[in-house]
Amino acid sequence: MDHASFTEICLHQLKMSGVQKDERLIVLTQGNERLDYADAFMAAGMRLGANMYHMRLPAPPVVGSWAVGQTGLAAMPEAVEALKNCDMLIDCIFLLFSPEQFAIQAAGTRILTAVEPPELLARMLPTQEIREKVTIAGTMVDAAKVMRITSPHGTDVTYKLNTYPAVTEYACTDEPGRWDHWPSGFVFTGGDDDGVDGTIVVAPGDILLPQNIYVRDPITYTIEKGWITDIRGGLDAELVKSYMADFNDPRGMGMSHVGWGMNPNAKWHNMLPGAFPGGMGMEPRAYYGNVMFSTGPNNELGGPNDTACHLDIPMRGCSLFLDDEPVVIDGDIVVKDIAMERA
Ligand SMILES: [Fe+2]
Repeated sequence: MDHASFTEICLHQLKMSGVQKDERLIVLTQGNERLDYADAFMAAGMRLGANMYHMRLPAPPVVGSWAVGQTGLAAMPEAVEALKNCDMLIDCIFLLFSPEQFAIQAAGTRILTAVEPPELLARMLPTQEIREKVTIAGTMVDAAKVMRITSPHGTDVTYKLNTYPAVTEYACTDEPGRWDHWPSGFVFTGGDDDGVDGTIVVAPGDILLPQNIYVRDPITYTIEKGWITDIRGGLDAELVKSYMADFNDPRGMGMSHVGWGMNPNAKWHNMLPGAFPGGMGMEPRAYYGNVMFSTGPNNELGGPNDTACHLDIPMRGCSLFLDDEPVVIDGDIVVKDIAMERA
C-alpha cells in the first residue's frame, strides 16, 4: 500500500479513536519492522494537530514460537514511563499480555495495537455500527452467568461467568486506559478459574492460531474444572500437543478467553494460500458468527495464569447460549440487536 493510501486509513482510525489537537501520541516500533506504519500514523496524526512521536526499539532476539507477554520494553523502564505519559500509544510491536502494557493502560494511556498487513487494516476499518453492536454484545456477556457452546460435531462445554469482565474489540479506542486491536470485531470473556467443563471438538475447517492452519481432522478437548485434561485426535491433535509441550508449562492447559466474532467484513476463507496476506490472524478471529475458544493465559482478563503458551481457535457452525438464551445458532448471530448484514 502506498504512503498516501496508508495515511488515509490511519486518519480514519485516529478520528475513530477520538484523537484531538495537541494530544500526545507515540507510535512504537522495533527494528526494521513496520516503519511504514509509523510514517503513515505520524502523517495522519499531524493532520489532526496531534503531537506525534515515534519510539523505535532495537530489533528483538529471534524466538522460535509465539511467546506472548515478553517484550523488549521490560528492560527499559524509562521508555515505559514515557508511554505512560502520553495520551495514546499505537503499538506496532504487539505488547499484549505483557506487564508493561498493563502498567501503561493503568496510567490512563489508551492503546491501539496495529500489526496486521495494511491490506487487512484497509479491509476491516473500524465502523460505528460494529462498535455499537460489539458494545451491546459486551453488556450481554457481562449480564450472563453461564455461557454454553455446542456444535453438530460434539462440542458441549459450559463456562461459568462469575469472575471476569467482558472485553470488547471493535478496532478503535477513544477512552483513557482502553486497549483495542485493529482489525477486530468480537467480544470475549473468561470462565471462572475452576468453572469450565465439558468437551470441545475442533472440527475440519476450524482454525488453529498462531499456527494459521485449517484443521483437517477433529481434535477433541476434554475440560474439567477449568483445565484441559485430554487432547485427542489425529495429526492436528498431535501438532497441538507437540506445540504446547514445547513451552514446558502445565498452565498452558488452562482455559483462556471465549466469545464470538461479529465482523461481516472478515472472511473465514481468507487464510487459504493465495488469499492470506500474512499476519497473526485477526481476520479469522473476527469473522462473523465464529465461536472462538482459547487455551493458556487469562491475565489479559485479570486472572492469575500468565503462561506464554496460547492458542486461539475460531470455530465454524457452533451455537452459543448465554443463560440458555441463543446468541449464535449454527454459526449465525440470532439476536436482532447485534446481528449484521453479511457483506
Ligand atoms: Fe487470544
